Amino acid sequence: MKEQLVYIDKWKSNIHLIYNFLDKIDLEKAIEYLDQIQITNPKKTNTLGKANNRHLLNESQRKFFNDIEMKYETFMKKALQKVAPNKVHIATKLNCALAVLPANCSYPAHCDGLIKVLSGVIYIGEVKNLGTFVLDSKNDPNPQEIEWENNKMFLFSRKHNISWHNYKSNNNIRYSMILNLVTEEKFKHLRSEIGFLRAAYFYFCEYTKNFFIRFRNRLFNINK
Ligand SMILES: [Fe+2]
Repeated sequence: MKEQLVYIDKWKSNIHLIYNFLDKIDLEKAIEYLDQIQITNPKKTNTLGKANNRHLLNESQRKFFNDIEMKYETFMKKALQKVAPNKVHIATKLNCALAVLPANCSYPAHCDGLIKVLSGVIYIGEVKNLGTFVLDSKNDPNPQEIEWENNKMFLFSRKHNISWHNYKSNNNIRYSMILNLVTEEKFKHLRSEIGFLRAAYFYFCEYTKNFFIRFRNRLFNINK
């Protein structure tokens, strides 16, 4: 396993790259389960994991996800210390999923939600595909690609309104494993990025926006 910390100018922060991350046996199992994922969304990412209600896991799949989470939780927490030491006080647990993006599809630019304290993707497949594109803003015309390599992991910690990224597939179906350190302490997470006052203001704006959306939807239903 070769590791590399890389400074990304577009995000003004470090990311972590790890080569040959999964053991051979885990990699083979991951491919077996990726092959089994039903493509219910031909234009979007199709996932398999404990947090995904669309697919029920069988016993061996559940064991696989549990084993991976137990095996790599400590490793991921050490990685968090390297890329975002300001977040190690947040309570997290490791969540594993498998993802399939059909050929010639893309996932729009986003920064990752507050639930994800450390985001990890492992590219799976000998046939070259497209990795992840790092952007300096939602519409960055010059994305920087974190290049595809079989069994390479790309790890980063989100930053509010900064860690913009997207991903897409070439002519081939795109397989990946997702390993995220997730939290329920979303406010604490945001506070670690932008401070208490800005985090409180952000939450107030989101709450107000959602209140008016719910109000409008209710009115709409009544009028129907
Ligand atoms: Fe993401």
